[in-house]
Amino acid sequence: MNGSEAAATTIRPMTPADAPGVLAFARALPPHDLLFLPRDITHPKVLDAWVAELERGTLTSLVAMRDATVVGNATVVTDPLSWSPHVAELRVVVSAAARGQGLGRRLMEAAFALAVSMGIEKLIAQMTVDQTAAVATFESMGYRAEALLRDHVKDRDGIKHDLVILSHDVATFQARAGAYGRLETSM
Ligand SMILES: CC(C)(COP(=O)(O)OP(=O)(O)OC[C@H]1O[C@@H](n2cnc3c(N)ncnc32)[C@H](O)[C@@H]1OP(=O)(O)O)[C@@H](O)C(=O)NCCC(=O)NCCS
Repeated sequence: MNGSEAAATTIRPMTPADAPGVLAFARALPPHDLLFLPRDITHPKVLDAWVAELERGTLTSLVAMRDATVVGNATVVTDPLSWSPHVAELRVVVSAAARGQGLGRRLMEAAFALAVSMGIEKLIAQMTVDQTAAVATFESMGYRAEALLRDHVKDRDGIKHDLVILSHDVATFQARAGAYGRLETSM
């Protein structure tokens, strides 16, 4: 797929009406790519809970669309009543066929801007250490490894994986961006 086809992808807020498209998108993903999610979004019940959270406002999701097909998703998860109301978790996934064309970066940038508009000061992302493409993508955007949890994730075959938590200090980034008069997601 060339650059102009990739450019035809639109990113917009996810609504409850997107649930069937997101379910089809999730079910087409390689199982290993879902390991960064604490819950399995290929189950309709989990998706129902997701939609309920969208409606309550505890989750904010974006979908990347090519025509009527969902090809990517980004979610900003917050917990305003916790002791970390200033922290959000970013979850990003792009369909296998649409990778390597800049869509993951676009989704991360859009989600980052969303988090900034919500007043978030720190972003984290978690993934298994063997998701080398995901780790490389986040690091290229200024995220740094902050914690490693050994044998923290068990896949469907019962095999355990180490989990890495990467973080991005939004507040420091904004202060620097303000000083230089620009706002980009990577440093
Ligand atoms: C992480 C993910 C969203 C990236 O999506 P993508 O559309 O392929 O990413 P992009 O094409 O925008 O690439 C973004 C950057 O990462 C780099 N990158 C992407 N894949 C890479 C790889 N396999 N190795 C090294 N670098 C890679 C790109 O070079 C690019 O950097 P640049 O803009 O400086 O050139 C995708 O791999 C994915 O869905 N993975 C599974 C889900 C997951 O683990 N998500 C992370 C947990 S939240």
